Amino acid sequence: MLKEIGIFDEYNLLIDALRGRGAFLITGLETPNPMTIGWATLGVIWGKPIMTVLVRPSRHSFFLINSHDEFVVSVPPPEMGKQLALCGTRSGRDCDKFAECSFTREDGVRVKVPHIAECLMHYECRIVHKNNVDSTRLDASLSQQYYPGGDFHTIYYGEIMGVFKKE
Ligand SMILES: Cc1cc2nc3c(=O)[nH]c(=O)nc-3n(C[C@H](O)[C@H](O)[C@H](O)COP(=O)(O)O)c2cc1C
Repeated sequence: MLKEIGIFDEYNLLIDALRGRGAFLITGLETPNPMTIGWATLGVIWGKPIMTVLVRPSRHSFFLINSHDEFVVSVPPPEMGKQLALCGTRSGRDCDKFAECSFTREDGVRVKVPHIAECLMHYECRIVHKNNVDSTRLDASLSQQYYPGGDFHTIYYGEIMGVFKKE
């Protein structure tokens, strides 16, 4: 059973996951694909609750997130380290990560992208803006550290349509 909660109510669960082994970004409708992410922000822009996620062009998730205007971020329980490692090293181009991790697809409530039912909490988002990390404006040491080979992230701004927690 899912319970809708306030958008910022369980912020600590998301931050703990991001500062630990990561969370799952799910994109795609027909063949949804979970990708491990370590970077995301949650806040208010344009008077709306917004989650930003960053995806490099080399990811299969990049193709999927650009094909639809929605994404879900599912926050895992602490014991999901193995699945986070798999979804952070294998590509959905080469395998079905939902099947590899024995994840259950759970329908989104306000978006068409599904959740991972085994996760604790789900942010359902609709993309309202995107832009690229711009090397000419990025701090030089960050540029060297994170983009020696280019592959600059695109930043996606998702209006949070609802947050749902497993009861
Ligand atoms: C802890 C962790 C955090 C990661 N965070 C991101 C991220 O925020 N953005 C990104 O583009 N890739 C990130 N990655 C790398 C992708 O998860 C990885 O390249 C994945 O295999 C891509 O899957 P896909 O090709 O199915 O999209 C992260 C990997 C790990 C292990």
